Amino acid sequence: MMNDQQPLILVIDDEESLRDGCKQTLEKSGFVVMTAGEGTEGINIAREHKPVLAFIDLKMPGMSGMEIIDILFRDIPDIVLIMITGYAAIDSAVEAIKKGAYDYLPKPFSPDQLRTVTRRGLNYRELKIEARRLREEKERMEKAFITFVSHEMRSPLVVIQQSIESLKIMLGDRFDAEAKEVIERCGTRVQRLQEMVEHWLDISRVEGGNIAQNKVPLSLSSIIARSAEEMTPVCQTKGISLEIHAPDDLKKINGDEESLVRVFANIIGNATKYTPEGGKITVSVQTDEHYANVSISDTGTGIPQDKLPFIFDPFFRVKGKEDRYQGSGLGLTFCKRIMDAHNGKMEAMSKEGEGTTITLKFPL
Ligand SMILES: Nc1ncnc2c1ncn2[C@@H]1O[C@H](COP(=O)(O)OP(=O)(O)OP(=O)(O)O)[C@@H](O)[C@H]1O
Ligand SMILES: [Mg+2]
Repeated sequence: MMNDQQPLILVIDDEESLRDGCKQTLEKSGFVVMTAGEGTEGINIAREHKPVLAFIDLKMPGMSGMEIIDILFRDIPDIVLIMITGYAAIDSAVEAIKKGAYDYLPKPFSPDQLRTVTRRGLNYRELKIEARRLREEKERMEKAFITFVSHEMRSPLVVIQQSIESLKIMLGDRFDAEAKEVIERCGTRVQRLQEMVEHWLDISRVEGGNIAQNKVPLSLSSIIARSAEEMTPVCQTKGISLEIHAPDDLKKINGDEESLVRVFANIIGNATKYTPEGGKITVSVQTDEHYANVSISDTGTGIPQDKLPFIFDPFFRVKGKEDRYQGSGLGLTFCKRIMDAHNGKMEAMSKEGEGTTITLKFPL
């Protein structure tokens, strides 16, 4: 009776006439059907024959429908479960769907209703399997890409950078001004490529999901202080003042210190980059019931309103009248992903010509 070509459907119900009715209807539509009068028997059949779809009566003597759902999902992850429910059993049907059941069929139902829900269930299963295949394929490609970037791009870039430095030393003053400029340009371009590769690797590592394991209780004030210290020389060179208002008695947050220092350094870095000389950057912390909110405000160029929604996208940069500011457009993408990994939020407010405020919200 078993046929490898046809999908197997299992019906678990204590009502014999219902089991037989379902079997007849579904067999007429070309499915192979097996039936069981109670849970244990149903589970044994399922384990042995791996049905693609099972109808389960929610209310049976012996093992409950809910227990059967858990066991079947554990043993046959791709199975589609449809609950058969009696009159006024909507609450348990909802509970079953929360557990992952696909749908429910209230008694009494017609052969047509049975066929329709079966067809929809099988389509759903195909989509689910396809979605998983695509997700796995995407993960595989991302892993391959990280390996490619780190081995095939990083190493040659380091070699080029070192060669440029050697060239400068070897030739020293023998360069004329024009040649010097060319070599400087090469150096800057290579350095930018290197920064981009590092950014990209940072982003991929976040997606690799190491952050969650590295979280420890951290003091926000000390992270801000560390990042600010890192950025102080740049601010001084540009004559930008950097002010920090963070109370010492802040509640600790859970996080990965190194990545958060990078987040703040990136955002303060943007503020210095996009703020003209003599400007001001203010970092301030406020807490409410749920979040510690850190705002980083600058008095810089600002971001046009219609561009604001895109600044967290990879490679997005606001094109200015001139390309005064260099960058890869990956900094904020990195920050956003780190904040996501911390269950935090990141918001941007800006007014062109007046300045920008980036707010980071850390759950307390
Ligand atoms: N404080 C700011 N003031 C004005 N514009 C900003 C500010 N922060 C970000 N932007 C805009 O958002 C864009 C994206 O920022 P992001 O940090 O992701 O990239 P980037 O600074 O261009 O390059 P990098 O990858 O080197 O950080 C920037 O190109 C800039 O146009
Ligand atoms: Mg940046």
